[in-house]
Amino acid sequence: MACNKFVTLSNDEKMPIIGIGTWQASDEEIETAIDSALEAGYRHIDTAPVYGNEQAIGRVLKRWLDAGKIKREELYIVTKLPPISNRPHEVEPTIKKSLADLQLDYVDMYLIHTPFTICINPDGSFKMDEEGLMEVDKSTNLAATWLEMEKLVAQGLTKSIGVSNFSKEQVERLLKNCKIPPANNQVEHHVYLQQRDLIDFCQANNVVVTAYSPLGSKGIAKFNAQAGLKRDLPDLMDIPEVKDIAVAHGKTPAQVLIRWIIDTGVVAIPKSTNAARLKQNLDVFDFQLSADEVAKLCALDKNIRICDFAFFHGVERHPEFTFKNQYTN
Ligand SMILES: NC(=O)c1ccc[n+]([C@@H]2O[C@H](COP(=O)([O-])OP(=O)(O)OC[C@H]3O[C@@H](n4cnc5c(N)ncnc54)[C@H](OP(=O)(O)O)[C@@H]3O)[C@@H](O)[C@H]2O)c1
Repeated sequence: MACNKFVTLSNDEKMPIIGIGTWQASDEEIETAIDSALEAGYRHIDTAPVYGNEQAIGRVLKRWLDAGKIKREELYIVTKLPPISNRPHEVEPTIKKSLADLQLDYVDMYLIHTPFTICINPDGSFKMDEEGLMEVDKSTNLAATWLEMEKLVAQGLTKSIGVSNFSKEQVERLLKNCKIPPANNQVEHHVYLQQRDLIDFCQANNVVVTAYSPLGSKGIAKFNAQAGLKRDLPDLMDIPEVKDIAVAHGKTPAQVLIRWIIDTGVVAIPKSTNAARLKQNLDVFDFQLSADEVAKLCALDKNIRICDFAFFHGVERHPEFTFKNQYTN
């Protein structure tokens, strides 16, 4: 059965409260995973050009749509304006490329992936300076980019527009400078990085929050290692309090972590390429966390940011980069 729990956005569109994340999976893995996810009842798919899998996802969607196994309006597809294209003149061509790759006429949500902009060479590789740091484009003008995002809605290329990795101050700035308010802010959110202040602010202003890395993004370890970063990241599914609550309900730690997120009206997009775990991550509606359990989970906050973009060496020099990095590289 399809996931039938939704959050309503400020423009009255409905977003399924659980979606499948798709970062860090090969084309082959993602095609199988999207098939399994659709079979399991997922309708919300989170992707981005940066993940390199829009074409693979597009192939699966086309098969399902052509076979009449699903209608376009039943799907909720999210993709993003990449950090290398965060400039007003790149907004329209970039969404059109995503739509061509996804083989869709429109997406449901288009997000500015990051508030910062990074530079590339004509061959698409990252532009590095003499110190080996990524060149950032400090001329980023979020209000000007947003104006172009708004035009996409009028053109019918996306139903809704939003942002990702935006701080409270950045969301507030956009809200003061827009015709269409951002409907969504996709940020890292889990028991170790709760960001209550940011979430409360977004929710008070009708900006739905999506929690990325809701299970602690185990796969990021490989990504960090490739970028030469040494990190000892926590395993959220191994936290004693989380495990005890899972045992008490006959559920898994992942299910507890997801349920805790969606109970506050925050959307969760756990990634898995494993059919059994995909099913598990959607099977979170047959138990209830008690007030005491919620309090225990809320008390776990450690302000540990797992996806701090340090793999983009030098990005911290961008004026719109707001993350604090608690790790030493
Ligand atoms: N906007 C942004 O800047 C941004 C940044 C990061 C992520 N995201 C989005 O958010 C999505 C989710 O975040 P994420 O991929 O970083 O991490 P995540 O969803 O927190 O964790 C994914 C990891 O958990 C494992 N896993 C999944 N379900 C499990 C279960 N039930 N039990 C045990 N392990 C399980 C997965 O392995 P298996 O695949 O082997 O199951 C994978 O290694 C991404 O895929 C992406 O779509 C967005």
